[in-house]
Amino acid sequence: MRRKIIAGNWKMYCGTPQEAADLAGQLAKQVGSLTDRDVILCPPFTALAATVQAVKGTNIAVGAQNMYPESKGAFTGEIAPEFLLSLGCTYVIIGHSERRTYFKETNEFINKKVKCALAAGLNPIMCLGETLEERQANKINDVVKDHVQGGLAGMSAAEAAKVVLAYEPVWAIGTGLTAEPKDAEAVHQFIRQVLTDMFDKATAEVIRIQYGGSVKPDNAKTLLTMPNIDGALVGGASLKADSFTGIIKYEG
Ligand code: 13P
Repeated sequence: MRRKIIAGNWKMYCGTPQEAADLAGQLAKQVGSLTDRDVILCPPFTALAATVQAVKGTNIAVGAQNMYPESKGAFTGEIAPEFLLSLGCTYVIIGHSERRTYFKETNEFINKKVKCALAAGLNPIMCLGETLEERQANKINDVVKDHVQGGLAGMSAAEAAKVVLAYEPVWAIGTGLTAEPKDAEAVHQFIRQVLTDMFDKATAEVIRIQYGGSVKPDNAKTLLTMPNIDGALVGGASLKADSFTGIIKYEG
C-alpha cells in the first residue's frame, strides 16, 4: 500500500516568517499528530526557517518550491539543495507548471534538478500535466508521457522509486475546475503504465502520484480514494488552516 502524501504549495503567499509561523502553527495543532499519512508544507524560501520551527516536534515535513541543480557556484539568486537541507527541509517541488510556463523550465532542466535533489538527499515532488489546448487536441497521454520520461530520464529504478510525482492538469490550477475523479484516475493509471515501461512493475507500484488542481475539502475524498491517486498537491486551499485540514483529514 502506498502511503498518502498531501502537500500544500503556498506559491508566493505567506512568505513572511510571521504569516508562515501563524499558518504552520495552526496546522501543527490540527494535523501535526497524524501518523497514517504524510503532510508537507511548502512555503516561499523566506519563510522556510519559520515554518520548520513552527512544526518542530510534529509529524509535518517542510519542502521548498524550487532549487538550483548545483551544490554551489556563481549562480546569483539561486538556492542549492544543500542549503535547503541545512534549514530542515526534506522535500522540494520541481517543475511546477508555473515554472515551466513563466520561467521556461524544460524537461532536461527538470531532470537535472530531480537528480541533483536526490543526490543531495532531498525528496523531489516532480510536477507534470497538460494545458487546456493540449487536452482539447487529445494530447493528454503524449504530454504526460513526455514529462514523465523526460523528467526521470537516465535514472535507476531505485532512484525513481524515491520521487513523488504530481499530476496537475494546468487548466485545473487555480481555476476551480477539477478533473473528474475517474478522468484523473485514468491519467494516473496511464502514468503508472509509463513507469512500468521505463522501469519495472514493482517500481511503478511504489511511486506515489499526487493529483493537483483545485483540490478542496469537498472534492478531496472522491479524488483521494481513487486507487491510483496517492495524495494531493494543494494550492489555494492550503493557505487556510481549516480548509487544508479538511483535505488532509479526508476519510477513505
Ligand atoms: P490550486 O489548488 O490553487 O488549484 O493550485 C494547485 C497547484 O498548482 C498546486 O501546486
